[in-house]
Amino acid sequence: MTDRVFLNGEVIPRSRATVSIDDRGFLFGDAVYEVIRAVGGRFVEVERHLERLARSLREVSLPAPDQDLLAVATHLLHENGLEQQEALIYLQVSRGTAQRQHAFPPGRVAPTVLMTVTPFTPRRELTERGVSAITQPDLRWSRCDIKSVNLLPNVLAAQKASEAGAFEAILLRDRLVTEATRSNVFAVIEGILRTYPTGPFILPGVTREVVLELAREAGVAVREDAVTAAELAGAAEVFVTGTTSDVMPVVAIDGRAVGSGDPGPVTRRLGGLLAQRIGAAPD
Ligand code: PDD
Repeated sequence: MTDRVFLNGEVIPRSRATVSIDDRGFLFGDAVYEVIRAVGGRFVEVERHLERLARSLREVSLPAPDQDLLAVATHLLHENGLEQQEALIYLQVSRGTAQRQHAFPPGRVAPTVLMTVTPFTPRRELTERGVSAITQPDLRWSRCDIKSVNLLPNVLAAQKASEAGAFEAILLRDRLVTEATRSNVFAVIEGILRTYPTGPFILPGVTREVVLELAREAGVAVREDAVTAAELAGAAEVFVTGTTSDVMPVVAIDGRAVGSGDPGPVTRRLGGLLAQRIGAAPD
């Protein structure tokens, strides 16, 4: 049932949705994207995702798609029978199809606009138990704030994590924890919740922002201040946040237990508050 996708103005079967070999997203990674969660046909934190998309597009001088993206997403959920469930909306905009040259193609080239929806099942058993992570060097460029499809360093680090049986790879730039391959990283150190500040070296995660707000509302002491590798190793609690990971407790890093080895109280509290906010809390 989930085989209807949106490509360049048309809703068509996935099997017929093909993109040219000259598409600049394919050739250069010249494209940006978003991933939005839907719960029972309702989009989670959609304004923030659309704002971030608009910003990514602006930062790489791509025009905003003409379509009403939310109307398209609603239509796709319906077409794929996912309006009662949890789903992920994947949206990608590339600079379109043109003869290969690095600089932007001359003239007006229509962007390639793709949207897919897939069923999503939150990993609640992992949220309960916690997961392990490894550390890896952050090999990415200096505009990680743009949600571009240039994800090769993320892919390579995620593969290392996968080979180690870990859920995520936590990335270190100059011995500071930036974020992870598909999530932001938080640590509780001496009673203070810390995470890397927004700027060029992390994606400004929507879930990160919501969790920071929830923490402040709940009276948790918060500091947007980079955590060193040494502090990470001695942290009482660590968790990662993201559209597909919610608040995910990290209970072991590089084979060593974090704190007691179980999800900690701040992590659990914020996980519960986020679940309530998303409206996806288990009954
Ligand atoms: N990833 N950091 C990176 C590098 C990410 O790719 C993501 C999201 C996040 C978390 O952002 P948010 O809370 O807005 O989902 C942080 C998406 C889910 C992905 O690439 O699939």
